[in-house]
Amino acid sequence: MSAKISVMISEEEVAKRLVEMGEQISRDYAGKELLVVGTLRGAVYFMTELTKRIDESIPVTIDFVSASSYGNGTTSSGDVRILKDVEESMEGKHVLVVEDIVDTGQTLSRLLGYFGARNPASLKLCALLDKPSRRVVEVPVDYVGFQIEDKFVVGYGMDYAQIYRNLPYIGVVENI
Ligand code: IMP
Ligand code: MG
Repeated sequence: MSAKISVMISEEEVAKRLVEMGEQISRDYAGKELLVVGTLRGAVYFMTELTKRIDESIPVTIDFVSASSYGNGTTSSGDVRILKDVEESMEGKHVLVVEDIVDTGQTLSRLLGYFGARNPASLKLCALLDKPSRRVVEVPVDYVGFQIEDKFVVGYGMDYAQIYRNLPYIGVVENI
């Protein structure tokens, strides 16, 4: 199958926004140590680019969690399972969870409760994209790259049936 993908947010626009987000995060965490936890696999591209934009005066540790509520389709099942936990302790740490996209909110809401129980010094949420119209669970997202309308997007780490993660831009598959 060859799909037609249209560009929603270009590589350049994402790069520009990540500089702004990095500056904001650098201001907010000045003088602190930061543990950035990326959600596998969708947030990997975003997380690596974003953390490169955080000021080097801030000691940054990275770790990963894998939470799954999706099969190979495009709708959330609501049953969010932790498939892989972080390896770092969160006790007394400033933790920033980095997600590719907030859709129903169920994944981040689950992670907030799951990590919140580990006594971090602070726990904040960051997402490259936000689809507010799809929200089922209210969840406080502290940093958002872009708000988008209700379209299924791929690229920059995001997939459709595990494909397209490596696209350097954020696109919409036209013929899903
Ligand atoms: P939520 O739990 O419904 O907020 O879903 C969040 C997860 O669903 C994200 O981490 C993505 O993996 C996936 N997801 C939601 N919307 C999209 C999309 O438009 N494209 C690709 N993945 C998506
Ligand atoms: Mg995800």
